[in-house]
This record gives sequence, C-alpha cells and structure tokens, in this order.
Amino acid sequence: MTARFPQMRLRRLRGHERLRTMIAETSLEKRHLILPLFVVPGENVATPIPSLEGVSHFSVDCLLPFVEKALGKGIGAFILFGLPETKDPCGDSAKNSQGPVQRALRKLTKTFPEAFLLTDVCLCQYTDHGHCGLITDDGIIDNDNSLKQLAAVALSHAEAGAHMVAPSDMMDGRVQAIRETLDAGGFSSVSIMSYAAKMASAFYGPFRDAADSAPGFGDRHTYQMAPTNGREALREALADEEEGADILMVKPALTCLDILSRLREKTLLPLATYLVSGERMMLRSSAAAGHLDLRRGLLEAHLACRRAGADLIITYDALDLAEWID
Ligand code: PBG
Repeated sequence: MTARFPQMRLRRLRGHERLRTMIAETSLEKRHLILPLFVVPGENVATPIPSLEGVSHFSVDCLLPFVEKALGKGIGAFILFGLPETKDPCGDSAKNSQGPVQRALRKLTKTFPEAFLLTDVCLCQYTDHGHCGLITDDGIIDNDNSLKQLAAVALSHAEAGAHMVAPSDMMDGRVQAIRETLDAGGFSSVSIMSYAAKMASAFYGPFRDAADSAPGFGDRHTYQMAPTNGREALREALADEEEGADILMVKPALTCLDILSRLREKTLLPLATYLVSGERMMLRSSAAAGHLDLRRGLLEAHLACRRAGADLIITYDALDLAEWID
C-alpha cells in the first residue's frame, strides 16, 4: 500500500528542531564562498564603492590587511578584479606584469600561502571601448584575435601566482586557448573556472560602476547570452567542459537557478554560480526598505544556489555570511 494521508504526514519530519537539522539536504558553509576583490593602482587607497555598499576599492598595500581579516573569519578564496591605470583599444594593460592584479597576486601568495586566488580574465575594464574582446575597424567583436589577448592575460596572472583563472568574456574558444597557453607556459596545474553560461543581464550595473567597465557603444548581446535560452546555456557550458574547463560557472545566480540545476544533471564537474552585484543590491535595497530581513533573505538566496547545484558561490556577502554561519 502506498502511504498517503492520513497515514503519511510530511509534517512529522518537521516537528522537532533537531530532526529538521539532522535531515537538512543542503548546507551553506564558508568553504563554499568566494569573495570578490577590486584592486586599484596607487597606494593607501581603501575607498568604499558607492554602487556596492560595504565593498571597497583597495590598493595592494591596503588589500593585505583586508584579506588577513577575511582569512580570520574563515573566508579563504578570493577572485581578483583589476582597475588599470590606462586603457587602450586592445586592453594591453590587462597583461601588464606591474598591473594591480599581478602585483596583488605576488604579494598575496607570498603573505598568505593558505589563501586560494582566482582572477577574472576579461578585457572590458582594460579596453577604452569597454567591450570584453577586441574590436575590428567596423566595430565588430573580433572573436579569434581576442583569444590570443585573453590567453596572454591569463598567462600573466598565472606567472604572478594565480591558482585559478576565470575567463568572463564569453568569446568562443577561450577556454581552449587559455588552456593551451597555460600548458605551454609551464602552468598546467593552474585551473580554469569558466564563466560558462553568462547572460547579457540587467543585474551587472553596480559592478560596471565599480569596475568602470560599461561598454562605450552598443551592448554585450553578441557575446553574452540571451536570458531566453536555457538549452543554449547548457551547450555553452558543455563546450567549455570539452575545451578543458575544470569548474563551470553559471551567472547570474538567482535568475539562472534552472540552468544550474539542469547543468548539474549533465556534467560531473564542480559547478559555481555568481550572485552578481545587481542581485545583491536588490536584496540589500529591499532589506533597507523594510521588505525583508537581510540575514534571512541572504541566507535563503545562497542556500537556493546550493540546492540548485552550486558547489561554490561567488558573493560580495561572504564576510557577513561567514559571521552568520558561525
Ligand atoms: C566582466 C565581468 C562582469 C561581471 C563579472 N565579470 C561584468 C559584465 O560582464 O559586464 C559582473 C559581476 C557582477 O555584476 O557582480 N566581463
């Protein structure tokens, strides 16, 4: 006999708080969280970012005590974004060994060998047009020539000590190009987390202010994905796996939970998601307006990412979450 009401009562498993904890299917732990860091040129800079409450621009010297504090709170993985001194059409400053990201990597790996360091590999912060790839004279994204530049950026990060590189440009073939370049350069142990399925999303606004990376003309719709397409997102992700990605990321997080959970069924790789700037500020503004409890709202949002299949979550709220998890 199949049990059903009144013999079967699902509420029986919810009656005691201890039992509820014992049978929790999903957990959010500090080891699942990756904290973004914005590194700027100069010295003695620790400037709050207006669009991203609670997040700051740090020069390398000021980044060190901040990372030390994060490590003390149990957050041990970081993804670095750089703001360069100069921009040009090709984004050459992205591969400068004296750039903010490269300098930060050398200092951090030496000072905190226990920290795990990822880098965002893209051109948009470094190009004067703000696009993620190179542009032809006709104003078209030059996919294949962008690959060489992106691979050179990744190589410069590896040379400076990055443990993992995370290409976020959405050019076709970048994972393969980066893997080949890293291997040829003697960095076969540096891993790749691809921004595998990245939507052309309205939720990147606060980040683009923080990273000064908004496109100067047009938009990103020829390389980032249309939010209409779930199957195509899976193709993107599986293509990156074939090209050699070690971890696949889906982005944004809250608007792409379906893609994450479908991808979980299709690959054996670890998965990550990025609870992006606009999603984070949506939750924070809502809390500030009194519409939700910030702590419960943030914990629920991150747990939903884990439940959908994310092993790892890139989140600006890693430090607050770490405190609440304690
Ligand atoms: C760079 C990049 C972006 C984000 C991460 N890497 C912006 C974009 O694609 O325009 C967004 C992160 C966020 O919103 O928090 N390509």
